[in-house]
Amino acid sequence: MAARFLFARMHASASPPPLLDQFARAGQGQVFAFWPQLREDERRVLLGQAAEINLAEVERLTHTLLGKGVVRGIDLTDLEPASYVSRPEQGGDAAAWAQARAAGEEALRAGRVAAFTVAGGQGTRLGCDGPKGTFPVTPLKRKPLFQVFAEKILAAGRRHGRPLHWFIMTSHANHARTEAFFAEHRFFGLDRARVHFFRQGRMPAVDFAGRILLEAKGFIALSPDGHGGSLRALRRSGALDLMKGEGIDTISYFQVDNPLVRCVDPQFIGWHLLRGSEMSSKMVSKAYPEEKLGHFCRQRGRLVVIEYSDLPPAMQREVDPATARLRYVAGSIAIHVIDREFVRRMTGGVQDSSADAGPALPFHRADKKIATIDAAGHPVRPDRPNGAKFEQFVFDALPFARNALVIETQRADDFSPVKNAEGVDSPRTAREDQLRQYARWLKHVGAPLATDASGLPEITLEVSPLFGCDAESFAESWSGRSPRPAVKEGLYLE
Ligand code: UTP
Repeated sequence: MAARFLFARMHASASPPPLLDQFARAGQGQVFAFWPQLREDERRVLLGQAAEINLAEVERLTHTLLGKGVVRGIDLTDLEPASYVSRPEQGGDAAAWAQARAAGEEALRAGRVAAFTVAGGQGTRLGCDGPKGTFPVTPLKRKPLFQVFAEKILAAGRRHGRPLHWFIMTSHANHARTEAFFAEHRFFGLDRARVHFFRQGRMPAVDFAGRILLEAKGFIALSPDGHGGSLRALRRSGALDLMKGEGIDTISYFQVDNPLVRCVDPQFIGWHLLRGSEMSSKMVSKAYPEEKLGHFCRQRGRLVVIEYSDLPPAMQREVDPATARLRYVAGSIAIHVIDREFVRRMTGGVQDSSADAGPALPFHRADKKIATIDAAGHPVRPDRPNGAKFEQFVFDALPFARNALVIETQRADDFSPVKNAEGVDSPRTAREDQLRQYARWLKHVGAPLATDASGLPEITLEVSPLFGCDAESFAESWSGRSPRPAVKEGLYLE
């Protein structure tokens, strides 16, 4: 009791921390409105949160995204479809693809490539409790997404005789649980010294006048700064320096929700390197006009991605008379290869807030219902949007990249995201797409397997990425198996 009393007296006599004054001068004094009522531990939390906020950035976003007269929407002038490198089966140059593969394999053998997963999302649509990477996704063993990637990365390291580093971006909300999950599962066989976790940044939610909102008296309403925040986080966390020290110059970026992704794809990496690209992306042909994929486009000589919600339906439906296919056919599946020093260039402002700090990703505004408190400190649960959150998107880096490149991939071997609890892009569709992939590999080696017209096998089976990651590596392992396993319900190849 005496110690508490002494502490309270000491505190009462201490002058307020400078942050309070800085916020007041920036017109954000409401953030500390309840300061006198807060306990010491609450004050520490609030100060820590406030220190994360770049007040000049919030002010700039208030003017540019919320200010009166701000025109919302996207500039669609001079837009045309982006060109891309077609796969050999679609008429692309097979020799060039072979060359790309060789270049990618060489980079992997030289240890120049790191895998990078963005896993800071909230996964609200899936409604998964805990980090999305812990969600069980494989058909038979119910392996979580993180394990699927870990085994692919392990397999790639073995294949190229060089274990890979894996960088995983988490959020404040899921960081501890992500690390604990890996520790509990002994890093799924990976060398733990090569798995690196770091948190993404957060942005404050603001009301429509740009005033930072409190979630509680001693707590600012903060949310993750989007997958584009990964570039700043790579720099701020020291990951770029670590990469440099390890001789890694090429980052293979993928999302946490896609069990089919080739975590490190030699062909893709090779194209990126041979073309001297700073950022490269994979595309699939859109399955139908309204499919919810961003569109690769060209605008005044630069590669851009226009989100499905921003491209007018009439444009999404336009057909190219020459090919009879959709004009804006190239859909983005959020798989990129990024040059390490390009990330540094794009994030100059993280350490230097001067205006000429170099290019930076723009922020997007999302109007949301934000749980907050009123001036008396009572909770407010709005039933309509009462403010905005700010997010960056990683594909917004493409227009700044030298020699930005798009290559085609086969959807069935690279993309089946788990976004929704049911329906399209759900655990069920991802499970079926994995089964179809195993069925294709088995058919390719001549194993008997009954499937329906969509290629879905009638039995449930599973192939570990350590047995095969693609048709070729599968065929190699299969031919080395003696006796050949019986293809029946419950077959697990590892
Ligand atoms: P999504 O756009 O699907 O968002 O993220 P989400 O938060 O995971 O899911 P919903 O919208 O709440 O249902 C695409 C990828 O970007 C990552 C996600 O983890 C996922 O791999 N991401 C997204 C981040 O890492 N940070 C973010 O702030 C947002």
